[in-house]
Amino acid sequence: MIKILLVHGPNLNMLGRREPEVYGTLTLDDINIRMKRIADESGAELRIVQSNSEGTLVDAIQEAAGWADGIVINPGAYTHYSLAIRDALTAVRIPAVEVHLSNIYAREEFRSQSVISAVAVGCIAGLGWRSYACALQALIDLLRERAGDR
Ligand code: DQA
Repeated sequence: MIKILLVHGPNLNMLGRREPEVYGTLTLDDINIRMKRIADESGAELRIVQSNSEGTLVDAIQEAAGWADGIVINPGAYTHYSLAIRDALTAVRIPAVEVHLSNIYAREEFRSQSVISAVAVGCIAGLGWRSYACALQALIDLLRERAGDR
C-alpha cells in the first residue's frame, strides 16, 4: 500500500477564516476529509500533520523516512525562506509535491520565490483546495508507476 504524508505549514489551521477570498472557505478539516477520501479510493494510506513551527515540520519530515513513500506539502510562508524544510526534504529523499492554494506567482513579489520547488518533484498552485487533490492524485499515480504497478 502506498503511504503518503500530508504536511500543512503555518497558519493553514486558520483556513476558512483566513482571507477566504485568497484561500477559499473550506477549513483545514474539510480539506483533510477530502484528501482522506481520495487516499481511500486510491487504496493509499494517508497521515496528516499541521504545525505552525518550523522545527516540528522538520521533525515530521524526518520521521516520515522509513515510512512514507511520498510527501504532499504546503509549507505556507516557509515556502519562501525555510532552508531547514528544504534540507529535510532533500535528506529523507522522499518524493515530495509542493502545494499552494493560491497562485503564489500572481501575488506579492516575495511569494513568487520558493526555496522548496527545486527539491520537489512538482508544484501545484492556484487551484484552491483542488491543488491538494491534484497533488495527491498525481503523486499516488507517479509512485504506482515507479513501482511498476501499471
Ligand atoms: C500558501 C502561500 C504562501 O505564500 C502563504 O504564506 C501561505 C499559504 C498557499 O497555500 O497559497 O500561508 O502556501
